[in-house]
Amino acid sequence: MVYEPIVPHGKRLVERYFRREDLPAAPEELPYVEVDGWTMADLTCLAYGAFSPLDGFLGRDDYESVLERMRLANGTVWTIPITLPVPRDVASRVGHGEFLALGQNGTIYAVVRVDDCFVPDKEREARAVYLTDEVAHPGVKKLYARPDVYIGGPVWVFRLPPSPFPQYTFTPAQARRLFVERGWKTVVGFQTRNPVHRAHEYIQKVALEIVDGLFLHPLVGETKSDDIPADVRMKSYEVLLAHYYPKTRVILGTYPGAMRYAGPREAVFHAIVRKNYGCTHFIVGRDHAGVGNYYGTYDAQRIFDRFPPEDIGITPLFFEHTYYCRRCGQMVSAKTCPHGEADHVKLSGTKVRQMLREGKPLPPEFTRPEVAQVLIEGLRVKTNA
Ligand code: ADX
Repeated sequence: MVYEPIVPHGKRLVERYFRREDLPAAPEELPYVEVDGWTMADLTCLAYGAFSPLDGFLGRDDYESVLERMRLANGTVWTIPITLPVPRDVASRVGHGEFLALGQNGTIYAVVRVDDCFVPDKEREARAVYLTDEVAHPGVKKLYARPDVYIGGPVWVFRLPPSPFPQYTFTPAQARRLFVERGWKTVVGFQTRNPVHRAHEYIQKVALEIVDGLFLHPLVGETKSDDIPADVRMKSYEVLLAHYYPKTRVILGTYPGAMRYAGPREAVFHAIVRKNYGCTHFIVGRDHAGVGNYYGTYDAQRIFDRFPPEDIGITPLFFEHTYYCRRCGQMVSAKTCPHGEADHVKLSGTKVRQMLREGKPLPPEFTRPEVAQVLIEGLRVKTNA
């Protein structure tokens, strides 16, 4: 049988990176808007084809459809609205079908054609996407802080800021080629915004027992300020892979997207994006993309029941909450261990961050010592900088 790589979402990869001479308008002659970190992250994902089949920012019909039924207007599953918020005075300077230049610190990276322009009801968007309208939620806070008018239309990206991790930067097309070169027919994608602790390592390796390769795909776009910075995390992944994973079975690549903390909806979104990168399987563990107590522990798994599997395309692999059990002498979950809390090693994210900031070593049952060392050192350097 001839092996066919997994079909991208919406059937084909849509890359929006163009040569200057192929742009539909001269960027320097257009009205200009300064964009934020989220928009830069979205532009990168659109340029790479990670957000296929999107060719730009959502217009009103797609936006409404994503909010109401988690699908684009044409029925394709899409759970997170990818929008371009601009200030009112900018919106008033561009007419329908005209172009707008997008940039940061005066450097233009892309142009967008203004096919649509509308004022969203942000509280409604917050309730639909984040399941809360509380400003204490980091995704909602960000949503409210962004400008008031949404522009929808295709983008042409012609420049990107240099990647902070060039050796780990692959577009979906490049990642797909790497998987083929390795001879991997099945690949499990792993999203993370954290260091890889023992629980993460365990679920990755359990998955790796049944698929050919692991695509460790940490998110390196904007995260909330108390998350561990991407550069420190990247060092921790390097040291972990060097000591505990077979080289031939893992590829480390960065996902340039921004973190929304939208729990269930973001889990489906993360899975679809990794399908575009060529993964056939995707890990969804406890409280995937969650924050605080906004989502139930397994809500991000249950949401997949709301879609026929063929509409998602990639196979989710669900994992219970896992941790180390001293009596069992291994990583376990409630499915595999009969012992009680007293035997289990569990640490909250907040506790871990506090211990790291204080330079206290994390228990080896929780994090590999080599990883803990990198984190303590990395955070110490940041604090003193
Ligand atoms: S996330 O915001 O990127 O989802 P994190 O990096 O902590 O956060 O999680 C990465 C993946 O590992 C997610 O699928 C998450 O559900 C899963 N996960 C994290 N910790 C555990 C754990 N202790 N047990 C099982 N799954 C976990």
